[in-house]
Amino acid sequence: MKILVTGGLGFIGSHTVVELQNQGFEVVIVDDLSNTSLSVLDGIKNITGKVPAFEKLDLREKNSVQDFFKRNQEIAGVIHFAASKAVGESVENPLLYYENNISALVYLLQELQKKEAASFIFSSSCTVYGQAEKMPITENAPIQTAMSPYGNTKQIGEEIITDTAKVTDINAILLRYFNPIGSHPSAEIGELPLGVPQNLVPFITQTGMGLRNELSVYGDDYPTADGTAVRDYIHVVDLAKAHVIALKRLLDKKNLEKVETFNLGTGTGSSVLEVIQAFEKVSGKKLPYKLVGRREGDITEAYANTDKANTVLGWKAQSTLEEAMASAWKWEQKVRS
Ligand code: WQD
Repeated sequence: MKILVTGGLGFIGSHTVVELQNQGFEVVIVDDLSNTSLSVLDGIKNITGKVPAFEKLDLREKNSVQDFFKRNQEIAGVIHFAASKAVGESVENPLLYYENNISALVYLLQELQKKEAASFIFSSSCTVYGQAEKMPITENAPIQTAMSPYGNTKQIGEEIITDTAKVTDINAILLRYFNPIGSHPSAEIGELPLGVPQNLVPFITQTGMGLRNELSVYGDDYPTADGTAVRDYIHVVDLAKAHVIALKRLLDKKNLEKVETFNLGTGTGSSVLEVIQAFEKVSGKKLPYKLVGRREGDITEAYANTDKANTVLGWKAQSTLEEAMASAWKWEQKVRS
């Protein structure tokens, strides 16, 4: 039984490949290498001792996707990470996002619908909730108009999967991530943002290394305890483990519906200033930062109600914010050494 991991050399993908291998799964990775490098394969091997099969593949090329599945008939399940994921870039270049995040999904599903009982895990995001009315956010919170084309591709992706599962043998689980951070404790794999990081934690660790002069804190006038925006920062290894549990649920036909949805977070909200304090504590460094205006499109607050994942999946995030920040810092130091 083989498991296909698309985008498996990416940040969350590579950590999930490690957990799949730890559980004895045979993994094949496809990645177009547009936002990662082949060196991640070495990192995975250094952790598990096993080199996953890898093929460079652009999922936007329908014929290439068809050819791949012809040559890999024994794929029983797919974990689909491959997508463009920069919110700001999606506003500047929406068609890149609709092509890469939607067409690729359609071509994948067209191949899976030919198989019996294909299991499909989809990388979704809490961004589908927009600014939710009520905290913590449950899976039943209303889906709001997307704040960016990136967020819209996640909403559309969920709808495409739901419609397709109704009339095929595809069973799916939609995993709505909150904010993934940190790195594998071995520091063999981690977050490798190319260019100037858009996300908070890599910007903090790069500032800690002196690669960036100072962090700009986007807004200190939010209606929160300290005025800075609140998010649910979840360790990427906790997130990866949830993917393996979800996949097994489908492979073992334990799912109660053709499509199930789970929020993956810690259940705790942390402000930007709290994340900075956690970094300073684990690194022993003072982080230079300045308070500036809000970033366009940002929401005030988002943290998960994790009851469903805890009870139905039997999964719960284990790492604290400080542990996650310590792993991110260890990785940054290793990458720059
Ligand atoms: C977190 C907080 C910023 C950078 C997005 C997507 C989500 C997922 C993760 C892809 C916010 C503040 C940030 C900085 C700052 N996407 N910040 N200075 O926007 O919550 O989520 O990325 O995987 O789907 O929506 O994450 O890390 O960009 O920001 O003050 O230099 O940090 O304003 O409050 P976000 P983020």
